[in-house]
Amino acid sequence: MTQGRRIAVLKERADAETRVAATPETVKKFIGLGASVAVEQGAGLLAAVSDGEYRDAGAQIVSAEEAVRGADIVLGVQGPDPALLAGAGDGAWIVAALDPFEQRERVDAYASAGLEALAMEFMPRITRAQSMDILSSQSNLSGYKAVLAAANVYGRALPMMMTAAGTITAAKCFVMGVGVAGLQAIATARRLGAQVSATDVRSATREQILSLGAKPIFVESVEGIEGEGSGGYATEMSEEYQKAQAELVSSHIAKQDMVITTALIPGRPAPRLITDAQIATMKAGSVIFDLAVTQGGNVEGSVADEVVEKHGVKIIGYSNTPAHLAADASALFARNLFNFLSAFWDKEAGGPVLDEEIGDAVRLTKGGQVVNERLLG
Ligand code: NAI
Repeated sequence: MTQGRRIAVLKERADAETRVAATPETVKKFIGLGASVAVEQGAGLLAAVSDGEYRDAGAQIVSAEEAVRGADIVLGVQGPDPALLAGAGDGAWIVAALDPFEQRERVDAYASAGLEALAMEFMPRITRAQSMDILSSQSNLSGYKAVLAAANVYGRALPMMMTAAGTITAAKCFVMGVGVAGLQAIATARRLGAQVSATDVRSATREQILSLGAKPIFVESVEGIEGEGSGGYATEMSEEYQKAQAELVSSHIAKQDMVITTALIPGRPAPRLITDAQIATMKAGSVIFDLAVTQGGNVEGSVADEVVEKHGVKIIGYSNTPAHLAADASALFARNLFNFLSAFWDKEAGGPVLDEEIGDAVRLTKGGQVVNERLLG
């Protein structure tokens, strides 16, 4: 009989990280597959999971060193410090959001240590991998939180209210970028009673905006991106498009009370969608939430984790938005990791055996080398 896999769950060490990569639910499920799970003491505290709950689910609560010793699989939200992994088993898997481009040195260190690093953000966007997609699960929560955070600093109410003292008008909210986060931002702002409009460069989003009861605002004079493009992602737009978009934004933004920007282009800095001159046309007291703040920012002047006030407009953005919803973000992240590993669990091997399509996409290192083609060449 093959010995069960040993899974380690470490406490996150990055600044302001509150999430955890496994929950009692996923611990129990891994044990159901025949694995054993060791959780570092206090790993779930910031996500409202106590050591006792992990223990009740069947995990051992130990130090980081003990958790890692002989582990076959180390789960993380962010990539663990290679120094912590010295005792891991030969060729152990590191499964986390590894931020491969920004953290290249760490990836190299995983390779030198003979570890097999699997970057969850490289999961292909194919139907069967949807339940393993950390970008979707975390973006969805980010879109929701962005609206709440903006509403929180907005000095007015969002819904129309008819009171004995008079009527309060509904806030106007504009969502720029209608991917996973943008769709949830639209839905959240609508639920709070705002009048919502939204824009994207991908024409496929027009129907989605309408179906959520919001108003599509699109560049009409220059063609945007038709169809789903490469994996449904946007690309950098032509100068002509950018100019037309800037004009459209200028005429629309001055009437808005709240703007949520979510626009990203994979592998590129976030597109600049709002300039300082455009902010100056907005009403005092308006709020902008820049969800792209750590990728270069959609909004001129936005600073992560600060409230910047420009022309009477508050500009906010978090360096780690899902970490502001630690319990739910952890629950979804942990399920993504479980769905991934369990989908490939091979009874005979006693652990996961990846197929080529997904394995080659997410695997960064193996046999002492960096092997992912996105990192080579
Ligand atoms: P993202 O986070 O890369 O970008 C957010 C949004 O910004 C996108 O909708 C993009 O078109 C938009 N954008 C980029 N440049 C812009 C600009 N200059 N102006 C306005 N908007 C701009 O995208 P996300 O949320 O990761 O989703 C992208 C697509 O992938 C969506 O169609 C989504 O439905 C699809 N998807 C498919 C999955 C699967 O099949 N497994 C899983 C998740 C998403």
